[in-house]
Amino acid sequence: MKPISYLYGKAALLSSGRISSVLKRTAPETARLRKALLAGYEDDRASISLPGDEALLKRVGAFIGKKQKLDPAYIVVVGIGGSNLGTIAVQEAVFGKLCNHITPKRRTLYADTVDSDAMRQIRVVIEPVLKQGREVLVVIISKSGGTTETIANAEVLINLVKRYKGGSHAENIVAITDEGSKLHHFADNKGYGVLTMPQKVGGRFSVFSAVGLFPLGMMGVSIESLLKGARDMRNRCIAASAGNPAAASAALQYLHYTNGKNISDLFLFSSDLESVGKWYRQLMGESVGKEHDRRGKKVNCGITPTVSIGTTDLHSMAQLYLGGPYDKFTTFVSVGQNNSSVNVPVMKEYDELVENIQGIPLAEVMNAILQGVKIDFQKGKRPYAEILLPDKSAYSIGQLLQFKMIEMMYLGHLLGVNPFDQPNVEAYKVEVKRILGNEG
Ligand code: PA5
Repeated sequence: MKPISYLYGKAALLSSGRISSVLKRTAPETARLRKALLAGYEDDRASISLPGDEALLKRVGAFIGKKQKLDPAYIVVVGIGGSNLGTIAVQEAVFGKLCNHITPKRRTLYADTVDSDAMRQIRVVIEPVLKQGREVLVVIISKSGGTTETIANAEVLINLVKRYKGGSHAENIVAITDEGSKLHHFADNKGYGVLTMPQKVGGRFSVFSAVGLFPLGMMGVSIESLLKGARDMRNRCIAASAGNPAAASAALQYLHYTNGKNISDLFLFSSDLESVGKWYRQLMGESVGKEHDRRGKKVNCGITPTVSIGTTDLHSMAQLYLGGPYDKFTTFVSVGQNNSSVNVPVMKEYDELVENIQGIPLAEVMNAILQGVKIDFQKGKRPYAEILLPDKSAYSIGQLLQFKMIEMMYLGHLLGVNPFDQPNVEAYKVEVKRILGNEG
């Protein structure tokens, strides 16, 4: 279990004086984070208490034990935004993007948007399973308990499971939501399993609550290691020292934003981390993209988060990144140790296609490409920082997600906005309900 590193130097193109003066300004937020930890779940920063909550781990662990007995062939996670992005991110990072094909014992599907073709495909996959008398577990996740997309999809899936399981279908449905939400009451009345989440933990900060822990534990992710990674990182990120990666990354993002670089690209050199990128996109987009500052002044603030995958996107985006406008700050993410090693075969006749790759590991080719890209970024005066992940274990991914969540709290503080609300997302939800005619 190794710590992840956040590295920045000359390539960040910022003077150490400017960085340290902004870092000094993060001190009040560090103090608030420490206070929040003592306050349990009372503060907006409540999510930082999740990794150390032993009662939560016990409760979720016991519930996982109970539902494992059902031995579902499929888990369908129904939720959107903060209610499913963290789970997808961890699942793919730890087990790989093709895990449904490689570990067929328990496969996971996700229903988020209301797309009839996507839902039809889910039905095509799970209906034969139900027909054979095997089990499917539907996990409905909605903090508010009233998101239109989630409830519509849940109704479709509950109906399907009910058709095959009749009166005993309740054991196949689990709801994860806020205490007292409409979904909570509904699930209770129907006898479905219910897990709740702390009211102060917002959707995009909820991956270490039952929202992420239950489905991930059902898939076989070590949720203990995930939380241990998060805990260790949290302790680094509430320390008032230069080794605080969340404060440092927030300071760099802030300085570049105020210098006119309003795009932040997370450039992940690992295909399995693509969904970590999507999770981060929501985290940054919703946390610092704000119409008003904390005092209510209209600011229309925000850094646009983009996600790139190395080396794939070098062949789609590198031209823009290296030749286009100077409006981006990049964070490269690389993985020290892959789960496997694949070598390019030694076959003389291939040498004329691309020289010097015969017999070497693909990871070495990947690394050479990353080094080359960094040199080009330096030559072109394109600023960047780096995150080095030792591996893609649950422990490392727990660290990474916790690092980024606390970074957003520091960034919100520096930008003077509230990173915990999403008034414009709520506004669109109200409009949808009005259009569908079920106001109130
Ligand atoms: O971060 C957030 O709070 C939002 O993006 C929500 O996660 C998203 O809108 C889904 O909401 P809910 O979990 O209430 O269904």
